[in-house]
Amino acid sequence: MADRRPDDMARITTNELADAFIEEQIAELRKQIGDKKVLLALSGGVDSSVVAAMLIKAVGDQLVCVHVNHGLLRKGEPEQVIKVFRDEMKANLIYVDATDRFLDKLAGVSDPETKRKIIGGEFIEVFAEEARKLDGIEFLAQGTIWPDILESEAGIKAHHNAGGLPEDMKFELVEPVKILFKDEVRVVGERLGLPANMVYRQPFPGPGLGVRCPGAITRDRLEAVRESDAILREEFAKNGLEGKVWQYFTVVPDFKSTGVKNGKRTFDWPCIIRAINTTDVMEVTVEHLSDELIDHLVNRIISEVPGINRVLFDYTPKPPATVEYE
Ligand code: XMP
Repeated sequence: MADRRPDDMARITTNELADAFIEEQIAELRKQIGDKKVLLALSGGVDSSVVAAMLIKAVGDQLVCVHVNHGLLRKGEPEQVIKVFRDEMKANLIYVDATDRFLDKLAGVSDPETKRKIIGGEFIEVFAEEARKLDGIEFLAQGTIWPDILESEAGIKAHHNAGGLPEDMKFELVEPVKILFKDEVRVVGERLGLPANMVYRQPFPGPGLGVRCPGAITRDRLEAVRESDAILREEFAKNGLEGKVWQYFTVVPDFKSTGVKNGKRTFDWPCIIRAINTTDVMEVTVEHLSDELIDHLVNRIISEVPGINRVLFDYTPKPPATVEYE
């Protein structure tokens, strides 16, 4: 496969161009992999999902997908990965529910960078443990895309090459979408039969809901983040905002305030809603919601999410605020 994006390569915007790319890649993948086995960390995000779909088409069950549920995924995500890849695409999928392991390690840890390091480090450990149980794996597939390569060359971002696996685990890399831009990955993913809500999903940080549960993560507050996020996504989809607003999510900060419900005093968390638009993530603007939608969101979140007694809206652009809270 081409190591670099050819200067004259047409942007993949049509089904015809996507089909031609898929056909070419499948031939290349079969040549590279032969009858050997390939391992893939399948997060359910756009890039790893498209890589999985491509490899399933090219080498079938020579691909072993490992989906690590770190307990910080959005509501319904692990279930969707299992449904789409194991049930529908008949992938060789290993599902690891490592929720307790991650949340136990994170208990009492409030420093944002330490939280990120624990999540990243534990992820590699769980993945490496699963890889060690398997025989004859020679390749590691990755969802590297063209902007990752450009950014690592420009020194902006370390290329997540080989994911920091232990020294003794050496695999040859398979990176079937590495010359594609994100919009092209989506077109190719749709042609490979992935559901639109998987291919067009909003960006989601690797540490997941962990960065939206600021400070030390507790299971009850994490559940409040997950449930409120699910309501927000459902309402955005119903109101035609899905795929239109770049990123939207909820945050449940670690402080409580007084409220009243059914004539009784409550002392619960607030839920913050953030919805933003951007092209390059360096600068973002806020999506202004209609009064009707604001009222409806407040109502649903207050009545359906245990532990929440206020809903706040974050109307701060970036800069000065970042997108995520930590
Ligand atoms: P910030 O908060 O830096 O976010 O303005 C910019 C974009 O990056 C995402 N983000 C992350 N993605 N790992 C990721 O994979 C991370 O640790 C991380 N932190 C922020 C964020 O969701 C937004 O789209």
